[in-house]
Amino acid sequence: MANGVEPSSAPALLSVDNLSAGYGKIRALHGVSLRVPQARIVCVLGANGAGKTTLMRALSGLLPVSDGQAIFDGQSIANVPAEALVRRGIAHVPQGRMVFAQLTVRDNLVLGGYTRPAAEVRDDIDRVLGYFPRLKERITSRAGTLSGGEQQMLAIARGLLAKPRLLMLDEPSMGVAPILKDAIFETLRDIRDRENLTLLIVEQDADIALDISDEGYVIETGRVVMQGPASELAGNEDIRRAYLGG
Ligand SMILES: Nc1ncnc2c1ncn2[C@@H]1O[C@H](COP(=O)(O)OP(=O)(O)O)[C@@H](O)[C@H]1O
Ligand SMILES: [Mg+2]
Repeated sequence: MANGVEPSSAPALLSVDNLSAGYGKIRALHGVSLRVPQARIVCVLGANGAGKTTLMRALSGLLPVSDGQAIFDGQSIANVPAEALVRRGIAHVPQGRMVFAQLTVRDNLVLGGYTRPAAEVRDDIDRVLGYFPRLKERITSRAGTLSGGEQQMLAIARGLLAKPRLLMLDEPSMGVAPILKDAIFETLRDIRDRENLTLLIVEQDADIALDISDEGYVIETGRVVMQGPASELAGNEDIRRAYLGG
């Protein structure tokens, strides 16, 4: 176990309890419960349409929570506006990255720090770029000219500039070439190790997500169907069949 602490004894930074959310009358999440301990990496695995993005959006104030609760650092975050959650320490790296294609890499990063004093953000950009040397080389390029993997790095770096305590990532492997995929996930683990950051990652690529995670959950049609230590899930035959092509 990372840091030598058992999962049950680690305090949860984020605790989700019976959370439901959806789109109008369509319910996409049906009472999801999960815990994200401080300074751990937790992944939520699920096929296309399972409800991963809905979960991310409900936890970052972009979608109403219709039932249940989510507690971050001792306070409810259900139905709190997105900007207030950024200020409270939750950053969300959305599916598909959503970088501003016409803006430079630097300007995208500056926007990531919009809730913080400008001078502080300026200094912090160099620190964050330390994790992503490729981005540093392309700092004056328009984001739209970057490769998929580089754009994902930019989206993560932009999230870090909000100085979050919890970084939530929606399918960081999507549309990223295999070699950059590994680099991105190793960097995420490195960031957690160095900064004690807490990570919640939703992924379809179970293999790569479980590789860096401490704990994992599997969701199907908006419900948790399996959970456990990442190492146990990685060795689970059902998961291998459903998600790892083996
Ligand atoms: N904007 C939307 N309006 C209506 N239904 C949606 C919308 N977005 C997603 N859904 C539905 O909610 C369910 C969960 O979707 P989503 O959270 O995007 O899954 P995932 O991210 O795991 O692929 C799916 O059945 C999807 O069709
Ligand atoms: Mg999704």
